[in-house]
Amino acid sequence: MTETLDFQIFTQTWKIALQDCADAQSLEDIRLQLLGKTGLITLQLKELGKLSPDLRREQGALLNAARDELTQCLANRKVVLEQQGLAERLRSETLDVTLPARPHKSGKIHLFTKVIQDIHTYFCDLGFQTIEGPEVEDEHHNFDALNFQSHHPARHEHDTFYLKDMPGWLLRTHTSTTQIRTLKLQQPPLRIISTGRVYRSDDLDATHTPMFHQLEGLVLEPGIHIGHLKGCLTDFCRHFFNNKDLQVRFRPSFFPFTEPSMEVDILYTNTKGEKKWLEVLGSGMVHPNVLRHCSIDAEVVQGFAFGIGVERLVMLKYGLTDIRQLYHSDQRWLDHYGQGC
Ligand code: DAH
Repeated sequence: MTETLDFQIFTQTWKIALQDCADAQSLEDIRLQLLGKTGLITLQLKELGKLSPDLRREQGALLNAARDELTQCLANRKVVLEQQGLAERLRSETLDVTLPARPHKSGKIHLFTKVIQDIHTYFCDLGFQTIEGPEVEDEHHNFDALNFQSHHPARHEHDTFYLKDMPGWLLRTHTSTTQIRTLKLQQPPLRIISTGRVYRSDDLDATHTPMFHQLEGLVLEPGIHIGHLKGCLTDFCRHFFNNKDLQVRFRPSFFPFTEPSMEVDILYTNTKGEKKWLEVLGSGMVHPNVLRHCSIDAEVVQGFAFGIGVERLVMLKYGLTDIRQLYHSDQRWLDHYGQGC
């Protein structure tokens, strides 16, 4: 310790430095310079031990007084700076409560998603279980187990996307694959629906896309007959189109995995008031060969199945003329057709 250190000058000098200090960081710097581990006052205090007892007492008293005074000044300056900071924030962050509120914009559910959710709710209320299946499938699940003969045209490359480096694998062309996948895991009685993407090498135009969605349904229980099929699908169409008097027609058709097979048509009135029969889905009684493939006794259990093209249904219900509108993510379209939660 320098015996010539004048504590008065020392204290005054640092008090001035503290007065000039304009922010919390500079204040902290000064605190460390004085009172930190290697601060001036800390070092001086350590040096006291080297002095003679008399000198130590005298210098110690002066040094402690300087430390106390500067500690007090530091605390005072801290309070002042905090108050100044608060005043500054209150000035700059004023809130004008009279400003009009910003328009509240919340997201909407895509029309397509909403329709699928509603159809699922309808069938789940009837005791159906929803299941999913893979989009990359093998020929067995997509064709063989569904009783497609080897010459069936859907097998040809024209309709099916085969995977180039994986012989026998393809992008599923329909959701009927989920019938097989379920029956291999679950024994009847069962009621399932399954919605998902399917792929066919169709051209892209106003009513076709190479990827579209199907909803598959399957009911297998002892005693199920064609009357259940007709009742279930008629009720569904009336519910979906929100018309309890909707006319529904069952027209003979062919699907390899059902026998008999039927297309389901509705009597549709277009915007000009003209009435037309329009096909909305495919259906039929599950073919015994399909049941046999899944080791189910066709003498004991019967059932029906149906397949719905979801895009077509949505377009009909909402009067859409171009399927591509469903995928374009045009904000104006989404705002208009988007549904509340
Ligand atoms: N899988 C058929 C298709 O893609 C649709 C279909 C028709 C599904 C009849 C069924 C059904 O389950 O019974 O065209």
